[in-house]
Amino acid sequence: AEISNGAKIFEANCASCHIGGGNILISQKTLKKEALLKYLENYDRDSIEAIIHQVQNGKNAMPAFKGKLSSEEILEVAAYVFQNAEQGW
Ligand code: HEM
Repeated sequence: AEISNGAKIFEANCASCHIGGGNILISQKTLKKEALLKYLENYDRDSIEAIIHQVQNGKNAMPAFKGKLSSEEILEVAAYVFQNAEQGW
């Protein structure tokens, strides 16, 4: 199967901390749906926007990707995270 751009961006930029949709620094703050609903601001109201916001700006120990990834790349990786959260990684 073809590997999506979102998957490639995730592997290159996110998997070091979020391998398998987890979080190696703060173990409860994973990319799984229950954790996103609990910890990520506005996730229930506008899920992809909430992920985009966090990737652009970072938070605490998570670096900001604005300027490092293009807005199209951020959209693609956010859609990838959202889809995997829905499907259970
Ligand atoms: C949290 C996505 C890269 C460290 C999060 C959350 C998302 C996310 C959606 C919220 C999770 C939750 O609250 O349950 C991404 C994406 C990345 C990326 C898409 C790549 C573009 C990284 C990297 C690191 C990192 C490289 C480590 C250097 C963290 C940490 C948190 C976090 C520590 C918790 C922040 C807090 O609330 O204190 N990430 N992440 N992330 N991420 Fe990332």
